Amino acid sequence: MIEAARLAPEQLAAISLADFAGDVREGLTKRGQKELYSKYLYDEIGSMLFEAICLLPEYGLSRAGARLLEQNSEEIISLIPGPVMVAELGSGTGRKTRWMLEALARKQNVNYYPIDISRSALDRCDSDLGRLESVSIVGFERAYLDGLLEAAARRRPGMRLLVLFLGSTIGNFDRPAGDQFLRSVRQILQRDDALLLAADLQNDEDRLLLAYDDPAGVTSAFNLNLLARVNRELGADFDLARFNHLVRYDRRERRVEMHLQSSADQIVRIPRVSLDVRFAKGETIWTESCHKYSSGELVQMSRRTGYRCEAQWVDSEWPFAQSLWIAV
Ligand code: AVI
Repeated sequence: MIEAARLAPEQLAAISLADFAGDVREGLTKRGQKELYSKYLYDEIGSMLFEAICLLPEYGLSRAGARLLEQNSEEIISLIPGPVMVAELGSGTGRKTRWMLEALARKQNVNYYPIDISRSALDRCDSDLGRLESVSIVGFERAYLDGLLEAAARRRPGMRLLVLFLGSTIGNFDRPAGDQFLRSVRQILQRDDALLLAADLQNDEDRLLLAYDDPAGVTSAFNLNLLARVNRELGADFDLARFNHLVRYDRRERRVEMHLQSSADQIVRIPRVSLDVRFAKGETIWTESCHKYSSGELVQMSRRTGYRCEAQWVDSEWPFAQSLWIAV
């Protein structure tokens, strides 16, 4: 079984209350390290807190990704001979995607297919990008791979598919699961289709710890909201004042880990899954992993998973890469 905190976030599959209850039971009754899937961080409140994280001065990832697209969209598009249709995994923020769509729309009419399991994210995408000239948008409220299959089915003869994966979400997969996901994307693509992959690179350890444990406490609130969600949806009695946001960097795995640490011996009741969970003082629930890469590692990943890395752009202020992979 894949460990919880190593699973990718929200868009892998639509979430039902029964799934949530089952996963909470399984994750909190595990022998050894307790875990909750990181996808559950992104309910409505969690998603808003994540948007706030992206604005924090300490969290440079999102701005670096946007900067790279602002500076290099023209060149990226010039490397993919047209005509091109575009699918995006996660509907993203209009700001980032806009650079790419505008660059492409200067050459051709664009069909753009954002894919997200959240209807509200798709609506936001539509209101951000819906008025772009020469761009038509059809959103798919689906898990990533299901949506990509639907987008690919609309391909017209001679057209290339460009897949955007811009949120650096690949880092929330453990490395083998990330490879597996990229291979699954490749299976849907045709030879010479393109994937634009955003990934956060290795960075100064203290800088990374601050990015995931900001002094304003926004990331702490984002993490603790997961316990609040278990209270709201499963009737649990987690006392948020008795858990702390804990961040550590694992040098061997090259990842930031987020945990919630119990500050006391305590028992938490979760009536809707008929469960009492015992926590020892200091014990943690592992809630998310954020893997960091080297540029060379991304090139090797492309080779392992059925692509060649055509070009890579690295931000000068925050080590972050946009890589253009071509399906081989
Ligand atoms: C969504 N993902 C790319 C973020 C990251 O940096 O791994 C999630 C996040 N967790 C805490 N802060 C940001």
